[in-house]
Amino acid sequence: MSVIVVVGGQWGDEGKGKVVDLLAERARIVLRSQGGNNAGHTVVVDGRTFKFNLIPSGILHPRTICVIGNGVVLDPKVLLAEVDQLEQAGADLGNLVISERAHMIMPYHPVLDRLEEAARGDDRLGTTFRGVGPAYSDKVRRIGFRVGDLQKLRFLEKKLDFVLPLKNDILVKLYQAPPFTRDEILAEYTNFASRLERFIRDPFPLVQTAVGAGERVILEGAQGTMLDLDLGTYPYVTSSYPSSGGALAGAGLGPRHVTTTLGVFKAYTTRVGYGPFPTELDDSLGEYLRERGSEYGTTTGRPRRVGWFDAAVARYAVGVNGIDSIALTKLDVLDELEVVRICTGYSSKGKAEDHPMANISHLKHVEPQFEELPGWRQSTKDARQFEDLPEAARRYVERLGELAGAPVDLISVGPGREETIRRRANW
Ligand code: GDP
Ligand code: IMO
Ligand code: MG
Repeated sequence: MSVIVVVGGQWGDEGKGKVVDLLAERARIVLRSQGGNNAGHTVVVDGRTFKFNLIPSGILHPRTICVIGNGVVLDPKVLLAEVDQLEQAGADLGNLVISERAHMIMPYHPVLDRLEEAARGDDRLGTTFRGVGPAYSDKVRRIGFRVGDLQKLRFLEKKLDFVLPLKNDILVKLYQAPPFTRDEILAEYTNFASRLERFIRDPFPLVQTAVGAGERVILEGAQGTMLDLDLGTYPYVTSSYPSSGGALAGAGLGPRHVTTTLGVFKAYTTRVGYGPFPTELDDSLGEYLRERGSEYGTTTGRPRRVGWFDAAVARYAVGVNGIDSIALTKLDVLDELEVVRICTGYSSKGKAEDHPMANISHLKHVEPQFEELPGWRQSTKDARQFEDLPEAARRYVERLGELAGAPVDLISVGPGREETIRRRANW
């Protein structure tokens, strides 16, 4: 049995795509467990860059089955565009499986996402406008459309006759926006049905068989722990559960199946969208790291907010996910700095806090406590063994692991597959 749960330990964009692609080489299945096309995962192979919004990052390995799991909200239009793009690039999508249980983003969801954000005014969340929040709300309200509904078009039509008037009422009466037309949606989704048919399957037997045979199964996380609906900086979160618990629910596996929970962390911190960010660097150093790390959103192109590594966040992520192994990415981005800082905890109203508190108005005003370490001022890009790293870089990495509470088993020093230090056999 070898189930690896890959979770983002910060606010997303930690480099999960790269890490999943690496581990997928030996995997039977890579399963995207939750989230939607709010995610953007980048994989760089032989200098070619691939960006995935919905398709699992294992797709470049021809023998690996890639599953879009039941916990995902899938926009059929976006998926089909991704499929076309990958097929044009020569990828084989014969191994792509979409769970009948995954929910679909409907045309009114992105529109409502935008309108709701606008209505929040100064309190807006900074969503990706992909309709993810509205789609998950409908799932919880039990008025969502599932991928399996595409195989029962009469049922889909009947449901639409009930749901669409509810949506149009809100669009027209609350927002004075144009309504959607039933027949147009039906025609569009009927077309999706025929184009997606070849991928729709129940992944249950596939996943159970692989797990039973002891083959490697990777649950690919999206977003990050601090964006988790329950565990993150609510309401500045996404509408799903990027933590390991959410990964299991979104895949249809149980805790007994898990062999490793791998937390992916950036060697510093970034966040897109609004909400508290205690170690944020709102200065020229932040600007420098944003440029050097190309910190612009994969999905929306928005500049990412940048800050120092926050070990209070990392410790929290290790605890709530049960992380027992860390992949640390983008170490190379810090190569030129004279000193590097790590936040070890916060001071809040004179009280020491060792993890992010639930009360975000308090979290917003904490004073981060920093430990300063010497920089290495030397390139790490060519390091392939831990021993190849400059001593100061090794100290930084070990200290992060120590403060977070889990070993750093994989270190990434560039976007390419080969720009990686593996400290664990078979990884
Ligand atoms: P994800 O959402 O967690 O998969 O991460 P993203 O793909 O959105 O963002 C990570 C970005 O950093 C991508 O552009 C990657 O190609 C890049 N990247 C990943 N690892 C490294 C690394 O070690 N060094 C550098 N310089 N870039 C990296
Ligand atoms: P990956 O998988 C970074 C953020 C948005 C916003 C908040 C809510 O690439 O790490 P939503 O559209 O989900 O309702 O927006 O969540 N967000 C992400 N930030 N990486 C992601 O995914 C994200 N997915 C959502 O920026 O702040
Ligand atoms: Mg991303």
